[in-house]
Amino acid sequence: MQASATPASSTNSQTSKNILLGVTGGIAAYKSAYLVRRLKDAGFAVRVVMTAGAQAFVTPLTFQALSGEPVHTSLLDPEAEAGMGHIELARWADLVLVAPTSANAIARMTAGAADDLLTTVILATPAPVFVSPAMNQQMWQNRITQRNLQTLRDYGFHVITPDSGSQACGDVGEGRMPEPEELVKIVQYYFQGKTSTVVSTTYETLAGKHVVITAGPTREALDPVRYVSNHSSGKMGFALAEACRDAGARVTLLAGPVSLPTPAGVERINIVSARDLLAMSNKIVDAGCDVFIATAAVADYRAETIADQKIKKQGDSLTLTLVKNPDVVATIAQHAKRPFMVGFAAETQRMEEYARGKLDTKQLDMIACNDVSRGDIGFASDDNAMTVFFSDRFGLEKVILDKANKHVIAARLVECLVQAGA
Ligand code: C5P
Repeated sequence: MQASATPASSTNSQTSKNILLGVTGGIAAYKSAYLVRRLKDAGFAVRVVMTAGAQAFVTPLTFQALSGEPVHTSLLDPEAEAGMGHIELARWADLVLVAPTSANAIARMTAGAADDLLTTVILATPAPVFVSPAMNQQMWQNRITQRNLQTLRDYGFHVITPDSGSQACGDVGEGRMPEPEELVKIVQYYFQGKTSTVVSTTYETLAGKHVVITAGPTREALDPVRYVSNHSSGKMGFALAEACRDAGARVTLLAGPVSLPTPAGVERINIVSARDLLAMSNKIVDAGCDVFIATAAVADYRAETIADQKIKKQGDSLTLTLVKNPDVVATIAQHAKRPFMVGFAAETQRMEEYARGKLDTKQLDMIACNDVSRGDIGFASDDNAMTVFFSDRFGLEKVILDKANKHVIAARLVECLVQAGA
């Protein structure tokens, strides 16, 4: 079987890797025919597994002609078992790419189903599995789909962020399969060791840039054992650090006290208080950076004086005097070597008005605002939904990012800042 690993039309000596392409039922299946060509042009050996749904859109013959290999459609095909059974296919693959992946296929993979050839191969393969969801925007946004995708990520699947735009059903929104060229790039990047579990098509868009991200809460000491802080989990900032790294940037993450692991390839500097954060930010911006993203939930106030010794219990009440902390993002925006400035805002009402106000007063280039009156997103949640506003000088419309996992939102925010020329 390995003999077929040498592609017929190799224009790229980088690889003789075997790609098992799974095609599920969706209108984007027609794009997958072209994807086979592009993968082969890039030097990959390609075999195709189609679900029953996929065959309603494109015939196996099309894929057979393009891949130059028999197409696999049935789990219980005696002939196939003798030749390229599911275990052999699963072993043959260096990478499994399921494109398009329907909501149904996602649900079945999440459940560990093995009731057709594709799901069985996915369970049986030691190779990495990339899924490229493609579906109606409402189905994409559905919490069940999003939760399933998060489960797949947790299992180590690579979930490719879909494109946004007009859809075959007439809707406009997220859920389009990226163009075949983009999917080929994602596969190539994987073999170059550049892929994390959330994959977007922002590769190289921040190449050569140094991005600094503040994340998590700050802690403002009252005495040697107590402090004032907040519930920020740091998840959004950490997800952005990964997204910027995946987009090719060098990333420095200034992290408050959170219990998240440092993303691979990201430089992490731990800070405690707002003043620590400002001092470290100034130092890094002095040395030069291109983009500054402030996701940290900086405590607005700190104790006027930090007691040297533990404050003793006394009386029925205790009065603390708090003084205002420096505004880190607004201070950096005034820096002589001002980077592209991105802020975050959390509002419970009049979101646009307040977000635009902050954009102005803090002199930012872009601000991402979330509605924290919604209990299902924000702070400690894995999901977020945001509206992004740009400084007037860019002449850009606001961008609405529908509710999705923070990693998906992060990839979208990278697209926004690239769009603004960061
Ligand atoms: O004013 P507000 O706290 O709503 O602004 C939020 C934005 O400002 C966030 O980007 C946050 O990281 C940043 N900020 C800061 N320093 C502060 C307060 C907020 O950098 N002291």
